[in-house]
Amino acid sequence: MASRRTDREIPKLKLNRENLKKSVRLFRYMSKSNRWLFALGTLFLAISAGASILFPKLLGNMMDGVFVYQNGGVSTAPSTERIQEIARYFIILFAVQAIFSFLRISLYVRVTEDMTKGLRTDLFKSVVSQNMHFFGENRTGEILSRFSADIAQIQDTFTTNLAFFIRQILIMFAGIILIFTSSPELALYMVSTIPVVVVIALFFGKFIRKISKEVQDITAQNNVIVEETTSGIINVKAFTNETFETDRYTENAEFLKQESIKRGYWRGAFSSFIIICLFGAIVWLIYLGLGMVQAGTMPIGELFNFMLLTAFVGTSMGGMAEQFVQIQKTLGAIERVIDIIDAPKESNQSEETSVINKPLVFKDVVFSYPSRSESPVLNKINMQLLSGKTTALVGASGSGKSTLTALLYQFYQPQSGEILLGDQPIQTLNLHEYRSQMALVPQEVTLFGGSIFENIRYGKPTASDHDIREAAKDAFALDFIEAFPDGFDTLVGDRGMKLSGGQKQRIAIARAILRDPKLLILDEATSALDSESEFYVQQALNKLMQNRTSLVIAHRLSTIKNADQIWVMQRGQIAEHGTHTELVAKADGLYKQMVERQLDPSDFFNS
Ligand SMILES: Nc1ncnc2c1ncn2[C@@H]1O[C@H](COP(=O)(O)OP(=O)(O)OP(=O)(O)O)[C@@H](O)[C@H]1O
Ligand SMILES: [Mg+2]
Repeated sequence: MASRRTDREIPKLKLNRENLKKSVRLFRYMSKSNRWLFALGTLFLAISAGASILFPKLLGNMMDGVFVYQNGGVSTAPSTERIQEIARYFIILFAVQAIFSFLRISLYVRVTEDMTKGLRTDLFKSVVSQNMHFFGENRTGEILSRFSADIAQIQDTFTTNLAFFIRQILIMFAGIILIFTSSPELALYMVSTIPVVVVIALFFGKFIRKISKEVQDITAQNNVIVEETTSGIINVKAFTNETFETDRYTENAEFLKQESIKRGYWRGAFSSFIIICLFGAIVWLIYLGLGMVQAGTMPIGELFNFMLLTAFVGTSMGGMAEQFVQIQKTLGAIERVIDIIDAPKESNQSEETSVINKPLVFKDVVFSYPSRSESPVLNKINMQLLSGKTTALVGASGSGKSTLTALLYQFYQPQSGEILLGDQPIQTLNLHEYRSQMALVPQEVTLFGGSIFENIRYGKPTASDHDIREAAKDAFALDFIEAFPDGFDTLVGDRGMKLSGGQKQRIAIARAILRDPKLLILDEATSALDSESEFYVQQALNKLMQNRTSLVIAHRLSTIKNADQIWVMQRGQIAEHGTHTELVAKADGLYKQMVERQLDPSDFFNS
């Protein structure tokens, strides 16, 4: 558990220049007109804050309208007109507050939503263009929380926390000025308590922030467990690991509980501290003030005004710590979001383009996955795909076949050696252009949430309905698609119809057929089909492979026999190379033995 915590630790955020710089970046997501609206909203905020600070003044005046002073004593002498006049002021005051609060909130929300939409979009754009290392390092749950938790934090701060914070600052300063103008002597007493409160509040705030962050992290871990378990529920059930997962969750939930309770104690302590300081100060001030009223140096309404203002200032200060915590959390959220937005993208913007009609050559390619950098998965691979020809790749499970296709696709870059198209290193080519000439039928097909039609069209978004139907037909998928009540409109993916492995493969093949690529990669494309379907699909694939550079990875002899050349892989290296006829003629050759024993190559290579 401890190790999981450390890799999820969020960098601690202080209010420093660098962090603020990142936050200022957010304002770039505000259009010019929105910046004005935001400023206008802030002005409205100031107006409504100003209106609320007049409230104590009016109440004080109202009291002075009721009480008349005689030689330091107080006797009632009601002045109805004065009270009515003040009541009218109250109505105006509340109307102003109501209107400006409404305007302020609407403006802030509007500007914030506009800004977060831009931020979200950029974040998404950045996530999809990250390289595979990024997806190896960040779990789906974590990426999701950038979109949900972090963006929500930013939204809350811009619509609420920031406004509260500004309002509290305004009320505090205006309150202090008013207090000083009304009664400098009493104000001095009051102000002498403030620095103490501030220092201790900051100290407390820091603690609470630290604990809050921990709680946030543990909550995220908690969500990761839920996500992992539900998305892999088949495995959980198949291996009867419900108890194991429940224990894992319970352990984390217990930890979360304890940390949250700890945080609760500190928050409780913080609020008692505020109460003691605030009420202590108020009682003390009332005591002093009443003495002044008795001595006749201060009208009672003035004291009332003073005390209310003091309460305003005190509450503002107390609330500021919480807002400050929120703002700091937001700085953390902004940093995490901006860091992803700024992360280097994989897309190679090079102007260099080249049609894939030359041989693709692997030259001394060495590669290891970032997660296991010490053991190379591909070790000095030298091989080539002939232009317009079919190349087959065979070898035991785990020998590195799929990895090789990942390098060909430039999902990863080799540690040493290079892959050339003709004599051009592929990483110097425009990546988008390069990949758009390729099609892959992967070993594990995933379909998107949407209809079968949309899933096939994914291969070529501009394709016509007719082409899509033809592709489905060629992939031998038409029969089963039309057997569904909704046909091509049948929904698949997470929320839709579950397709069998072979059905999914045929949709992926239809996608590839539709794409009509220059380079076709089939990674066990027909492995999930029954032999009859495979026979037909293979016919379609053979037609598709004609005069096209193709790389076929297969375990079944029938699929590889007719390839123009065959490369045999063993533990990350090329062991043999030749045509079927050449390879079977090789005495003691790996391939030959495989054919002679009439075994599935995977069984053979694994033995
Ligand atoms: N994303 C990854 N991160 C780390 N290691 C990986 C990753 N993908 C594959 N490997 C490792 O690389 C090695 C080669 O895997 P690869 O998928 O290329 O084998 P393969 O030849 O395609 O096998 P199969 O016939 O079973 O599909 C394996 O040892 C595997 O554990
Ligand atoms: Mg594989």
